[in-house]
Amino acid sequence: MDKEVTLHRGLQGVYFDRSETTFIDGKEGILEYRGYNINDLAEHSSFEETSYLLIYGKLPNKEELSEFDAMLKSYRKLPEEIFDVINVVKDSHPMDALRTTVSALSSFDEDRNDNSEEATIRKGIRLTSQVATIVMAHHNIRNGKEPIDPSDKLNHAGNFLYMLNGKIPDQDTIDLMDKDFVLHADHGSNASAFTARVVAGTSADIHGAVTAGIAALSGPSHGGAAENVMQMAKDIGNPENAENYVKNLLVNRERVMGFGHRVYKAEDPRAGHLREGVRKLSHQMGEPEWYQILEKVVEAMSPYARRGIHVNVDFFAGVIYYLNGIPQDLFVPIFAVGRIPGWTIQVVEQFRHNILIRPLLQYTGKRKQGYIPISDR
Ligand SMILES: CC(C)(COP(=O)(O)OP(=O)(O)OC[C@H]1O[C@@H](n2cnc3c(N)ncnc32)[C@H](O)[C@@H]1OP(=O)(O)O)[C@@H](O)C(=O)NCCC(=O)NCCS
Repeated sequence: MDKEVTLHRGLQGVYFDRSETTFIDGKEGILEYRGYNINDLAEHSSFEETSYLLIYGKLPNKEELSEFDAMLKSYRKLPEEIFDVINVVKDSHPMDALRTTVSALSSFDEDRNDNSEEATIRKGIRLTSQVATIVMAHHNIRNGKEPIDPSDKLNHAGNFLYMLNGKIPDQDTIDLMDKDFVLHADHGSNASAFTARVVAGTSADIHGAVTAGIAALSGPSHGGAAENVMQMAKDIGNPENAENYVKNLLVNRERVMGFGHRVYKAEDPRAGHLREGVRKLSHQMGEPEWYQILEKVVEAMSPYARRGIHVNVDFFAGVIYYLNGIPQDLFVPIFAVGRIPGWTIQVVEQFRHNILIRPLLQYTGKRKQGYIPISDR
């Protein structure tokens, strides 16, 4: 090692820029988009309104919201050629298929050669709609079915669920999905948003940034946890088994999925909104054991609250998707569907006062090696 440096592994606790988009107080468990508390948005707003708020920095009036909603609806259909791309990658994990397809979409975007703020916002709004269609189109294509055309009669959440199997869900189900999208719309400088900013930092375009964001989101330490929580709930199988199951994980120093967070050391303020949703939905569906299993896991983890390990947003989300008939490997893509407005505004912010993001690595390898010709090695 050539010199002493202060390392910040994982960039933990490092501020790398300023943002006006999302406020997080991890100690108190507070989350605000543009100054509006997530509790108010989850209870009173919609994904469309929240997306407008994030992107334009203010709540829309009626006219603005209706124009924005019409714009989102008008972008739901994919260019025909994109279905060929989806076909080629149909056997990939849905996140990998989404990553490849979003990347390919840049070729068909009418603003592809325009990196201005206005064009970037237009592209971000288009992506918000298109990503939802891609996820469900890929799902149907991989199952040998025709993709279901998006409907412009439904809101974003309703249309997303409709494209799964062509059935219009009931209003409670749509509202819960809508809430889930609101809760996932942005979250500061997490791994995927940071990745998107790194790409935007080189002045590459939003399709590149979102493609990279999707790649970062696909890992189990980030977006993958909802899928793992559902698997854990299935493995537990019965509320009575939950305590022992959790004890075994902890004894083996394994992680309980859906718990812990890099920033929140209090309960993730998003989790509570989904908890009530799981309770209602699992009773409505006649499968209350899922809610009971999750509650028993929370109980078993309660001693860990003292160490700042609480439920996070992914803990309750998975069961909601499962009860809606959504297969497990679509859980992370759902996170991506909700997150596009957040990535859009973060890319725009990055462009506004752009700087190349280029930290340093402390070199710990060998030095001053004499070059040996291949014949002598
Ligand atoms: C999200 C996560 C990666 C954040 O981790 P982090 O900030 O880097 O914290 P660390 O991994 O350093 O963990 C700190 C301590 O808490 C423990 N811990 C953290 N999350 C835990 C969990 N879910 N279950 C059990 N123990 C956990 C670690 O084992 C570690 O203990 P130690 O100090 O005795 O070694 C981590 O909490 C995790 O893996 N959670 C499960 C996956 C998940 O739900 N991800 C979705 C996040 S929204």
